[in-house]
Amino acid sequence: MYHTNELTSLEEELSKASKKGMKIGLVPTMGALHDGHMELIKQARTHTEYVIVSIFINPLQFNQTDDFLNYPSNPKKDYNKLKNAEVDLLFSPDAKLIYPKKPSVKIDFGSISKNLEGALRLGHFEGVGIIVMKLFNLIKPNFAFFGLKDLQQYVLIKNLIKEFSYPIKLIGVPTVREENGLALSSRNVHLSPTGLTIASQIYKGLVWAKNNFESLQSAQILVLKLKNFYNKQKGLSIEYCEILNSNTFKPIKSLQVKGRITLCVAAYVEGVRLIDNIFLKE
Ligand code: PAJ
Repeated sequence: MYHTNELTSLEEELSKASKKGMKIGLVPTMGALHDGHMELIKQARTHTEYVIVSIFINPLQFNQTDDFLNYPSNPKKDYNKLKNAEVDLLFSPDAKLIYPKKPSVKIDFGSISKNLEGALRLGHFEGVGIIVMKLFNLIKPNFAFFGLKDLQQYVLIKNLIKEFSYPIKLIGVPTVREENGLALSSRNVHLSPTGLTIASQIYKGLVWAKNNFESLQSAQILVLKLKNFYNKQKGLSIEYCEILNSNTFKPIKSLQVKGRITLCVAAYVEGVRLIDNIFLKE
């Protein structure tokens, strides 16, 4: 595996790969790699001949300094995992290379970036959008791989690719979970064994909702019942629980509407913020 943190050698390696006619697949990450990230890489291997993983903890998408400073990082372990997964290139630039100065251009991603995660983490999606555009412009991948665990992020990137005419095929990868249903996340390392068990109730609630929504008319009632279930779980504190149109991310009221519907949840366990979602109607 070739590893670089600078642009000249990145460009050289990319041009070698495209001269050989290889399709390039990009998996953007912030490191602390787990099996969810590894699944994205596996998908990239099946779709493309040349797989690039980027690791960059993007300061622009954190709205709290503490969250940024405490974000888990384990470069050595990450390197070995990627090498074993036969990744072709690891790009792990430092912040000075990516942002020689704080970008003065601001991009508004519209209503999709304003609710749920966007409302609670002000500027988060603008920061995500900027780093993803930078990576797209530097690497010019043919395919990009994003997890559906961060569904709002996935939809935002889908819009970005379409509206800015990036010639990139976006692949959304289903959420990889622990056996007990907990969605894998880099933040799970901050949870104790008890915390991990409590956190697994998040998905239990989502599955309950999926199994029961058809008998209910109103999204509000489903959310109320689900919140009741969550409130009974000691140590679990729900931040939001919302039912939305999966494509526009606009809240919906009736469960009988046509099209895809998603239930999204954010919760705190032992001070760790976790998000998850489930497609109610696909
Ligand atoms: P990060 O949280 O490291 O996630 C990198 C990618 O892995 C994202 O596309 C995310 O949705 C996916 N992912 C995380 N957990 C997953 C799981 N359990 N199953 C499947 N996929 C999972 O998301 C980011 O980084 C950043 O915002 C980034 C896009 C890199 C921009 O900085």
